[in-house]
Amino acid sequence: MQLSTRHLLGIKDLTAGDISLILQTAEQFKEVLQRPVKKVPSLRDIVVVNLFFENSTRTRISFELAEKRLSADTVNFTASASSVSKGETLLDTVNNILSMKVDMVVMRHSASGAPHFLAQHIPAAIINAGDGINEHPTQGLLDAFSIREKLGALEGKKVAIIGDIMHSRVAQSNIYLLKKMGAEVTVCGPPTLIPRHIEEAFGINVSYDLKETLQWCDVANVLRIQLERQNQVLFSSLREYNLAYGISRSLLDSLHKEIVIMHPGPINRGVELDSDVADSKQSIILQQVENGVAVRMAVLYLLANRNN
Ligand code: CP
Repeated sequence: MQLSTRHLLGIKDLTAGDISLILQTAEQFKEVLQRPVKKVPSLRDIVVVNLFFENSTRTRISFELAEKRLSADTVNFTASASSVSKGETLLDTVNNILSMKVDMVVMRHSASGAPHFLAQHIPAAIINAGDGINEHPTQGLLDAFSIREKLGALEGKKVAIIGDIMHSRVAQSNIYLLKKMGAEVTVCGPPTLIPRHIEEAFGINVSYDLKETLQWCDVANVLRIQLERQNQVLFSSLREYNLAYGISRSLLDSLHKEIVIMHPGPINRGVELDSDVADSKQSIILQQVENGVAVRMAVLYLLANRNN
């Protein structure tokens, strides 16, 4: 079995079979990560460069750990400390790096479509680590892995994605993935943060009522308000956002059922999630981060071992 695609640019391009293969492979790597010796030789002699043109904590460390656990040689690139700040283009930067014999590129960029552009111009396999407001495919995969681990399946599960849907690459990757795998999806947030016609475009539900959405769902994947991507005022204040769409302990208790709480991080505590929710037993936020390493190992392994 192998992936149908040479790059991982987005969940949009994956088949349900690709997603199942990645999740099954990640299960095997998760088992490897529980062993005293967590390293396997699968990517020995493979060189991976991590190109981060935008800030990251979880994704960057997770990819680097995944590469090291697979015995790859890794090189890290930070745009602010590079010749990009002297005006070098993306293509020149990457071609110069590739001339040093790099096999795979992990890239995060603030421009939607940047990894797709590179994929058309360079021979190395590219993994999108988040492009603008487009996709964050490994986040979608690790979220799916975490739901499956917690609830046993994706098919038939009711997943609510709550908050800033408009600016969220995490939302887009989650929606593509959950629909391909047979889950039901509702997006919930202020009307100004939900794209028009999203129901028809993706075959999902839209709700502006947080309590009703939480009553409906098995899982609430709560998103960060992305103030850095909003160039206009889309809600009156963070305080009012929290009153209407923030998840508090008392709100969860009023549901009389236990739902799973997820968040891709970084969390704005006291805005989209109160601390006693984020840190509660219902929250699997740190399991998501843990699972990210196994999922990224699976993606790296499957792309590196793909026969062209
Ligand atoms: N979830 C996520 O992408 O976090 P980082 O921005 O810290 O990588």
